[in-house]
Amino acid sequence: MTTTAADHLLRADGVTVRFGGLTALDDVGLQVAPGSVVGLIGPNGAGKTTLFNVLSGVLRPTAGTITWKGAPPPGRRPHHLARAGIARTFQGLNLFPMMTVLDNVVAGADRLAAGGAFSLISGLGRHHRDERELRARALAALEGFGIAEHAHRLPGTLPYGLQKQVALARACVGEPELLLLDEPASGLSGTQIDALAEQIRGFSRDMAVVLVEHHMDLVMRVCDRIVVLDFGRVISTGTPEEVQADPLVTRAYLGASDDAAPGHTNGAPR
Ligand SMILES: Nc1ncnc2c1ncn2[C@@H]1O[C@H](COP(=O)(O)OP(=O)(O)OP(=O)(O)O)[C@@H](O)[C@H]1O
Ligand SMILES: [Mg+2]
Repeated sequence: MTTTAADHLLRADGVTVRFGGLTALDDVGLQVAPGSVVGLIGPNGAGKTTLFNVLSGVLRPTAGTITWKGAPPPGRRPHHLARAGIARTFQGLNLFPMMTVLDNVVAGADRLAAGGAFSLISGLGRHHRDERELRARALAALEGFGIAEHAHRLPGTLPYGLQKQVALARACVGEPELLLLDEPASGLSGTQIDALAEQIRGFSRDMAVVLVEHHMDLVMRVCDRIVVLDFGRVISTGTPEEVQADPLVTRAYLGASDDAAPGHTNGAPR
């Protein structure tokens, strides 16, 4: 199938980010087709999270453009992009520690709430019907992730693997069209990573996914395409097989850590 520019849900072109004298991203391009899983890999410090921060509106690039469904996004701020249908998880869990699991997920339903998540959580808003609906939706999301029984607990009281599921439920509850996952497998056991692989393929039935991950076996299993960053530049793009066979990629990883090379199945511990 030929893919045209209009087929892309998301395009990043010429994205450059400088932090003082450090160029974290240098003329980076990325294209995400609907329903595809795109892997974003590269050694530590390559710029992966920085790119997520640009794509999710947390960070304004020094140069470059983002195109969402063939047009400029409706705004650059995180809430604009969330409302447009872009959700993310964070490299850390980033759950609200003093809010219940359910309220954490309600917070992710912001894009569906007329009055915004704050009014729903605080009870200060006028949108009682919304509130009921969104709490029901959040509970349904928790059920979908198999963690509804923990709805009224604080996230910190749950095992790490379940907290990761809460973070995923919070990202998915707003029914995004694009889900950005920053190291969803970190800290998980082999069995949990197998389950995560199934989940990510399942997500791609409803949304596109961009996956940042150091666990190469997971990346190679679930991704349709992979973009490799090194020192802020794209050094390779292609199918998992193409990227794995690219000597530039091997060299980039060998410079960082033998274990993290895409040919290795265990991935790099972080
Ligand atoms: N806010 C910031 N201010 C200054 N430098 C930053 C900032 N955020 C990131 N950097 C630098 O930008 C570069 C890219 O960092 P980034 O966190 O995007 O890498 P990464 O690919 O996500 O790495 P990791 O695999 O370790 O998560 C690094 O050199 C980092 O130190
Ligand atoms: Mg990172």
